[in-house]
Amino acid sequence: MIAIVVENLTKTFNGFTAVDRVSFTITRGEIFGLLGPNGAGKTTTISMLSTLLRPTSGSARVNGFEIVKHEDDVRKSIGIVFQDQSLDEELTAYENMDFHGRLYRIPRAVRQQKIVDLLQLVELNDKRDNLVKTFSGGMRRRLEIARGLLHEPKVLFLDEPTLGLDPQTRNHLWAYIEQLNKEKGVTIILTTHYMDEADRLCDRVAIIDKGKIIALDTPERLKDELGGDVITVKASEPDKLSAQLKALSWVNQAESHDGQVTVTVQNAERHVAELARLAATHGIEIESISIRNPTLEDVFLYYTGRTMREEEASSKDQMRMMHRLHRR
Ligand SMILES: Nc1ncnc2c1ncn2[C@@H]1O[C@H](COP(=O)(O)OP(=O)(O)O)[C@@H](O)[C@H]1O
Ligand SMILES: [Mg+2]
Repeated sequence: MIAIVVENLTKTFNGFTAVDRVSFTITRGEIFGLLGPNGAGKTTTISMLSTLLRPTSGSARVNGFEIVKHEDDVRKSIGIVFQDQSLDEELTAYENMDFHGRLYRIPRAVRQQKIVDLLQLVELNDKRDNLVKTFSGGMRRRLEIARGLLHEPKVLFLDEPTLGLDPQTRNHLWAYIEQLNKEKGVTIILTTHYMDEADRLCDRVAIIDKGKIIALDTPERLKDELGGDVITVKASEPDKLSAQLKALSWVNQAESHDGQVTVTVQNAERHVAELARLAATHGIEIESISIRNPTLEDVFLYYTGRTMREEEASSKDQMRMMHRLHRR
């Protein structure tokens, strides 16, 4: 059974292509992740799928409904939790839920029971009569997820569900998300720029960069495709070292970034000595060498030649620059 089909979905803003002919299919019951750096087009994609934005071209069906022709049916069949918090601070947890339930015209008796059930699911029932303004970031997120489920949507959209939360709270939220996927059978499509989140939660991950899907598979297969291990070398001349390494037959890929070189190879431990010798021959000093299993970050690096952290940093720099310009 198919929950979502996306075909060549595209969105341009004044000539700038934010989402570029994106296609994928999500099966019912899946947790599907859109993983990519800031500005990759994740929010724009799910905004189109949830009918908040009209696509420029391409098409999609959510729960069997065309997103452009049957907006209302799509909306009734989905739940959304957006990146920016949208709770009423001056209302209690229960009141926030109740307001949402009335919007969806859920009859009173059913509504009351469901609110209690869902607040229990996210362990907030004992806080039901407290004002949201007294809630921590994690509690707010849990409440928003519970609220998104009130009208029993078949598909739940989560935009950066753990953005800005501390590691412990993120772990808790992951457990809730898994639980409601398993127990309630809700199909989940989430966006994230945290590779550990995508790796831990998602059945399949689409890696998106500059509006395009560059890889799509299970986290395991994406990592396996890199073939073997990842060696990270901190060296005095990373660019020179990576150029030397690229020429070797046993090196799948070598990229220099953040003052280090990341090398993907088969059976890394057999090649470390040769790598060190090569560096020495070229007068390159090595500070440290480490071997590990590939992560989704390595997958991103493999396909783009950049790390997601570099992307984050450069978009932060841009923001800082804009602030500076505005202050002048
Ligand atoms: N309403 C808009 N008008 C113009 N550009 C936009 C608009 N919304 C998003 N963009 C641009 O589209 C790109 C993708 O944005 P977005 O989908 O929010 O990325 P992500 O959620 O992956 O961080 C970014 O470059 C962003 O600046
Ligand atoms: Mg976003």
